[in-house]
Amino acid sequence: MHKVVISGTGVFTPEQSISNAELVEAFNTFATRQNELHADEIAAGTREPIAMSAEDFIVRASGIERRHVLNKSGVLDPEIMHPVLPERRDEELSVMAEMAVQAATDALAKAGRTASEIDAVICAASNHERPYPAIAIEVQQALGIEGFGFDMNVACSSATFGIQAAADMIRSGSARAILMVNPEICSAHLEWRDRDCHFIFGDVCTAVLLERADLATAPDRFEIVSTRCLTQFSNNIRNNNGFLRRTREGHMSDRRDMLFRQEGRKVFKQVVPIVADLILTHLADENIAPAHLSRLWLHQANKGMNDLIGVKVLGREPQPGEQPNILQDYANTSSAGSIIAFSKFSDDLAPGSLGVICSFGAGYSVGSVIVRKV
Ligand code: COA
Repeated sequence: MHKVVISGTGVFTPEQSISNAELVEAFNTFATRQNELHADEIAAGTREPIAMSAEDFIVRASGIERRHVLNKSGVLDPEIMHPVLPERRDEELSVMAEMAVQAATDALAKAGRTASEIDAVICAASNHERPYPAIAIEVQQALGIEGFGFDMNVACSSATFGIQAAADMIRSGSARAILMVNPEICSAHLEWRDRDCHFIFGDVCTAVLLERADLATAPDRFEIVSTRCLTQFSNNIRNNNGFLRRTREGHMSDRRDMLFRQEGRKVFKQVVPIVADLILTHLADENIAPAHLSRLWLHQANKGMNDLIGVKVLGREPQPGEQPNILQDYANTSSAGSIIAFSKFSDDLAPGSLGVICSFGAGYSVGSVIVRKV
C-alpha cells in the first residue's frame, strides 16, 4: 500500500459578498411587502404574518457575519430573492466547472504539478448542476487531464468522503495523483424567503490535490494518517428536489420542500455528539491522544457547534487558532468549509504536527481525516 499526501489546496472565492445588514434589509422589505399584500387574510386570522429577521440573532445563533455569492443582486431584490445566473450554452464551461478550474489551478500550482501528472478528478459537492455528463469530466477536459473523473455527493461531508475515496485509490495503486474539487453554489438551493435559514449559506469552491507520498515534491504537504467516514439516516436536513419531480402532481410548483430545509436545533443537538465520538474513536484507534493534536479544521456551519466539538475532543477550551473558523466571512459553504479552514490555516504548522479535518451534515454524514505535516 502506498502512503498518500495532500500536496496542494486551492480556494475560489466569489467577488460578491452580502453582509448581514444587507441581507436582513432585503428580507424585511420582502416580508413587509408580503404582509401588506396579504393584510386582509392576516387580519382575518387565516394567514400568519411573516416575522422580521434580525442581524443580532444571526450572529448570536450562528457566528455568521457575511457570505460570498455568485449573484448578489438577485438575492437582495425583494421581488426575486434568489441568485440569477445566465443560462450557458452546452459548448460553454458550466458554472461549477468554471469555479472548480479556478480552485484547481491554485492547488496544482501549490503542489508544483501540471495537468499531465494527474490521473483523475473527483467532483464532490452537495448539488450538481446537472445529472450528466459529470462535472468532474468537464473539469478534466478543461484542465487537460487524462484518465477519469466522476461526481459524488454526500452533502456537507462530500469533501472528506472525497478525500477518503481518492486516498484509497492512491493507496491501492489505481491512481498516482487525484484532484478533488468542491464547487458549492449553496445560494441556489437556499430559501432566501425563510428567515429561519436565509442567513446560513454562501458560495465557494475548494480543491485538494492528493498524491502518492513517494512522488510528491511540494514544500508544504500533509501525510494522510487515516480517514474515517460515518453515515446515519436522518430527515432533519432534507431537500426533496430531484428528477422524479415532474412525475408527481404539483411538484413543479414553487414548493418549500424543493430547497434546503432543516430542523436546525435538532441537528445541532444530535450531530455534535456523533462528531465528537467519531473523532475521538478515530484518534484512539490510531493511538493518537487528543493532546497531541495541533489543529482541528471543522465543518463551518455554526460557531457554537464548533466550540462544543472542540471542548469535547480536546477536553478543554480550544486555544485561539487551534480551531480556526472561517464561517464569519463565508457562512456555511457545505462541503468546502473545512477545506477552506485547512487551506488558509495550515501553512504555519511545524513538521510532525497532527491535525484533523472534519466535516458533518445532511445524511447525517461525518468524515474525519487525520493528517500529519511532512
Ligand atoms: N431573525 C430573528 N429571529 C429568528 C430568525 C431570524 N433570522 N430565525 C429564527 N428566529 C427565531 C425563531 O423563530 C425562534 O423564535 P421562537 O423562540 O419565538 O420560536 C428563535 O429565533 C430561535 O430559533 P431557532 O431556530 O431555535 O434558533 P437556533 O438557536 O437553533 O439557531 C440555527 C438556528 C439554524 C443557526 C442553529 O440551529 C444551527 O446552526 N443548527 C445546526 C445547523 C447545521 O449544522 N446544519 C447543517 C447544515 S448543512
